[in-house]
Amino acid sequence: MPEHTTDEITLFRQSWTLYDSISEMNYMFHREIYAHITALLSQRHADGPYSLLDLGCGNTRFIAPCLKEATPSRYSGVDLSEAALNEAREHLSGLENVALHHQDMLQAVQAADSSFDVIFSGFAVHHLDAEGKKQLFHACASKLADGGHFILVDVVREEGQTREQYLEGYLNCMRTQWTAVRPDHLEEACAHVAAYDFPETFTDLKRMAAEASLKDARVVDRFAQHHVLVFSA
Ligand SMILES: C[S@@+](CC[C@H](N)C(=O)[O-])C[C@H]1O[C@@H](n2cnc3c(N)ncnc32)[C@H](O)[C@@H]1O
Repeated sequence: MPEHTTDEITLFRQSWTLYDSISEMNYMFHREIYAHITALLSQRHADGPYSLLDLGCGNTRFIAPCLKEATPSRYSGVDLSEAALNEAREHLSGLENVALHHQDMLQAVQAADSSFDVIFSGFAVHHLDAEGKKQLFHACASKLADGGHFILVDVVREEGQTREQYLEGYLNCMRTQWTAVRPDHLEEACAHVAAYDFPETFTDLKRMAAEASLKDARVVDRFAQHHVLVFSA
């Protein structure tokens, strides 16, 4: 993997404090979004044991409570940030059959030696360029068990909106609404978004998924730019 991808693309090179404070203030709607994830995983859990692969799991602060409610038979978390994975170990303590991998998400899916019932990714796929996302959909389709689901939480561009227009809107929201974030931290977060966010439109994501033979693309819910999407194998 290119050297610059290892820790630079994480929002906090030094620590998770900034992302924690942003998510603590619910500026990215983590509360509402992860309530949906708990519901989706609980539905799957009610159908029997299920395995879960989490791409860009970060420190798992928000998925961990969902896993305690709808415990998978096997959980694999993947992230490029060693610091995040170290924190994840604590958030996931008490859960059995947990594996954490310090790896690129695309490489991790491609290299997986077994299939998963659910593949999940929260606020990470927009870091990939269009070609990377296409490859990720293909890799996920090939590693999902029959009847499996790819649950994608991410920022999404409006139809017809350019990346520049999207960034202008998102950075404006950050600067006007994320009022509890320290000004220097806010500028660091804005610089991260401007450099590393490559969101697609729902139509483009749906087309990429269909080309990979994933079907029934649906928007479960959205909170401003932040979407909960499901694709089925
Ligand atoms: C904004 S955080 C999201 C964390 C968590 N999933 C959530 O929903 O709150 C994005 C995470 O994706 C990771 N990430 C970004 N690109 C990645 C890649 N290509 N492979 C693996 N992890 C990646 C970052 O290190 C970071 O931990």
